[in-house]
Amino acid sequence: MKTTITEPKIPNSGALVIGVLKGGVFLSTGKKLDKASNGALSKAIKGSRFMGGNGQFLDVIAPAGIGADRVLMAGLGEAKEVKQGALENLGGAALQRLSGSGVKSITIACDPVKGAKVDIGLGAASLAYGTHLASYRFDKYRTTLKAKDKPSVTTVTVQVKGAAAARKAFKPLGAVADGVFMTRNLVSEPANTLYPESMAKECQTLRKLGVKVEILNEARMTKLGMGALLGVGQGSRRESQLVIMRWQGAGARTKPLAFVGKGVTFDTGGISLKPGPGMDMMKWDMGGAGAVIGLMKALSGRKAKANVVGVVGLVENMPDGNAQRPGDIVTSMSGQTIEILNTDAEGRLVLADALWYTQDRFKPQFMVNLATLTGAIIISLGHEHAGMFSNNDELCQRLSEAGSEVDEKVWRMPLNDAYDKKLNCAIADMKNIGGRDAGSITAAQFLQRYINKVPWAHLDIAGTAWADDSKPTVPKGATGWGVRLLDRLVSNHYERK
Ligand code: BES
Ligand code: MN
Ligand code: ZN
Repeated sequence: MKTTITEPKIPNSGALVIGVLKGGVFLSTGKKLDKASNGALSKAIKGSRFMGGNGQFLDVIAPAGIGADRVLMAGLGEAKEVKQGALENLGGAALQRLSGSGVKSITIACDPVKGAKVDIGLGAASLAYGTHLASYRFDKYRTTLKAKDKPSVTTVTVQVKGAAAARKAFKPLGAVADGVFMTRNLVSEPANTLYPESMAKECQTLRKLGVKVEILNEARMTKLGMGALLGVGQGSRRESQLVIMRWQGAGARTKPLAFVGKGVTFDTGGISLKPGPGMDMMKWDMGGAGAVIGLMKALSGRKAKANVVGVVGLVENMPDGNAQRPGDIVTSMSGQTIEILNTDAEGRLVLADALWYTQDRFKPQFMVNLATLTGAIIISLGHEHAGMFSNNDELCQRLSEAGSEVDEKVWRMPLNDAYDKKLNCAIADMKNIGGRDAGSITAAQFLQRYINKVPWAHLDIAGTAWADDSKPTVPKGATGWGVRLLDRLVSNHYERK
């Protein structure tokens, strides 16, 4: 699907989307069309429950006097509700309603709204961004899809006065969407094609955007002493990889921001094998790494004025004859030893070495890690918020704000010594599990044992990386969660303006 932004010109075919304020108040295009059709649009509103409320729609086959094939009236609510996020959702919801309707083209009229909370150029860009995010599909393995089951819409045109300015505002949003799509593609891809080496290869595609990409293989990681990460991968035929991606958008002396991702390309549980039903979901156990890679694509794509490192630990957790056993003791890069009591608590082992390596080598301003770490976080927070665990109030505040702005919300959970004690172990420095209670918290406490003084936040995204229901800008399936949040965190606070 192609999205463009042009100057206004009422179309003669396809669907025309117009905004309507609360109380059924038309904007300029709506007024023109209502007049041209002898009041047919007002009449349609009168005969329906549509009131112009935010999120409401009324779809009509175009009456005589209107050239387009159909008109979709989209409720804006009150003028003060007209803001960036609402327009993204409006664009996304409009596309989802029309995508299989038979119309080939959609034109969205972006008219001025007095009292709106966003300027019109960015408003038009947000409409375009929302439709684009909503258009995502993962169809590459469907070879027999019939034309009638494919989306009919091939073009979306947002029309606005001052289209050049709106196109300029869209540019960075388009780059962020490219990052979100890359994450969604990686997360959707099955584990027979996406494994540590092939995922590392995907990271290399970022080189053309100016990202430096280094790949450490098992031999290099062995030299570095990454026994925790390597232990997880040792039961797999696939070689484990650690990928380091660097984007230098600021001066050489500015300390980097660091993002670290769990990239378990498939999690069988290992010798502590998971039950069969639902195990297929564990192809998306690399969602944290996927988000970090998509974020690097977004930041480099829009040439963010910040120095950023992305580090992903890529392993496959399999139970072959060489697999690690419950009771094994491994030594992490930090020197701390770990008794493996459950081989299914593997994400924390991967992150222990990836986090240690990152803070040790890069001395970042902060580290944020993302991981589909625990099933328990889904029990706590469901699919609305990701769990956030942190040693730094300011970083939490900034993440919470950015999350509300882009609708990728986080909720802070506690850390303290009493939870940490659950990891104490009789024969090694720690166990890799803390018991059934507070499973997400003890997992986070485990990670914190690998954090030195650096400000750090861990986002447990097990409930948000994949969605069974679709939202206006997030079709069901791989969500790409985290790319927009962290892109916004960077742009709000860490870029030279
Ligand atoms: N990848 C899983 C967590 C997960 C579960 C993500 C469901 C998404 C959906 C993780 O590696 C895991 O297996 N965690 C265990 C930890 C336990 C063994 C302490 C869990 O959550 O059961
Ligand atoms: Mn596991
Ligand atoms: Zn896992």
